Amino acid sequence: MERRTIGAATLEVGAVGLGCMPMSWAYSGSRQRGDESLRTVHRALDLGLTLLDTADMYGPFTNELLVGRVLKERRAEAFVSTKVGLLVGEQHIVANGRPGYVRRACDASLRRLQTDVIDLYQLHRADPEVPVEETWGAMAELVRAGKVRALGLCAVGARGGRRTGARLYDGTIRQLERVQQVFPVSAVEAELSVWSAESLDALVPWCAARGVGFLAAMPLGNGFLTGTLTPGEGFEPDDLRARHPRFTAEMMAANQPIVAGLRRVARRHGEDVTPAQVALAWVLAQGRHVVPVPGAKRERWVTENAGAPGLRLTPRDLTDLAYLPTAQKSWD
Ligand SMILES: NC(=O)c1ccc[n+]([C@@H]2O[C@H](COP(=O)([O-])OP(=O)(O)OC[C@H]3O[C@@H](n4cnc5c(N)ncnc54)[C@H](OP(=O)(O)O)[C@@H]3O)[C@@H](O)[C@H]2O)c1
Repeated sequence: MERRTIGAATLEVGAVGLGCMPMSWAYSGSRQRGDESLRTVHRALDLGLTLLDTADMYGPFTNELLVGRVLKERRAEAFVSTKVGLLVGEQHIVANGRPGYVRRACDASLRRLQTDVIDLYQLHRADPEVPVEETWGAMAELVRAGKVRALGLCAVGARGGRRTGARLYDGTIRQLERVQQVFPVSAVEAELSVWSAESLDALVPWCAARGVGFLAAMPLGNGFLTGTLTPGEGFEPDDLRARHPRFTAEMMAANQPIVAGLRRVARRHGEDVTPAQVALAWVLAQGRHVVPVPGAKRERWVTENAGAPGLRLTPRDLTDLAYLPTAQKSWD
């Protein structure tokens, strides 16, 4: 597996990571199987997908516990990224960026992960009631205390707080510039895929210019870009796609030309090459500082996704992918 460095040169990871979220959160609960998930994380490490991306709120907590079972045996082979700042309540998810809470949450994550240091500690969402510098300052203290190696900021929820006329990540960049004054940012995590590429406008270049790593969340378009989802099949009520405007039967049918385009490029590279691998190779082609973290809970998918860095997209492939149809419907 090709290696990439994110942020400070010491943070070296496999070019493709593993998003652990689907093992415990966001997608159909009935398909989550602990044993299969454990095998999947082990398989990822076997193949050099060293970056394991989790969060305390996935589950909540159970995803970190699961990752911890693997770290207990194979800590030296893994690069663990977890997140702080979101609490799951009965009805709502709320932000908490108070320094005391951040300190307690970090200790709890360390216990669940069965490790004494977190490689990348990410602020999941800024708390609107706490100046972000205060939260970030508390996170920086954790680096000084040796509990955390580097800090990251997530910008997946940027859609919600956007000002009229502003680009999607303008607010994120302002926030990054504020926290950089307090302690260096090593990585930013935000959505990036062939059907959601807004981060390429300013955020990915902002990171490249400052030596900050970019973790591409949802690089497979929540599974759509793999071509394995059938329009109209439906999603269980606890699956985020049951409420996602791009995942109605109508929109999934309307967006099939995007999958067809990925499939056309895949065929040029061989019978066994898949749309998922092309989608990940496209993300990898957006910069040496970009590391996709595809979510997966099956060994088969991890094995397939590990093949993406070996796929060298040609200029013709990249042009064809740049001219894929624009996705119909987003959250906006
Ligand atoms: N920071 C944040 O706020 C934030 C927000 C969202 C996501 N993330 C991170 O980003 C990661 C990725 O996002 P995501 O998991 O939502 O979306 P994604 O990576 O775009 O898609 C995940 C889905 O694709 C399926 N899949 C994976 N590889 C496949 C393959 N080769 N062929 C067919 N299907 C495949 C998985 O199926 P199975 O589930 O059946 O394995 C899963 O349902 C998350 O796991 C999480 O770590 C972070």
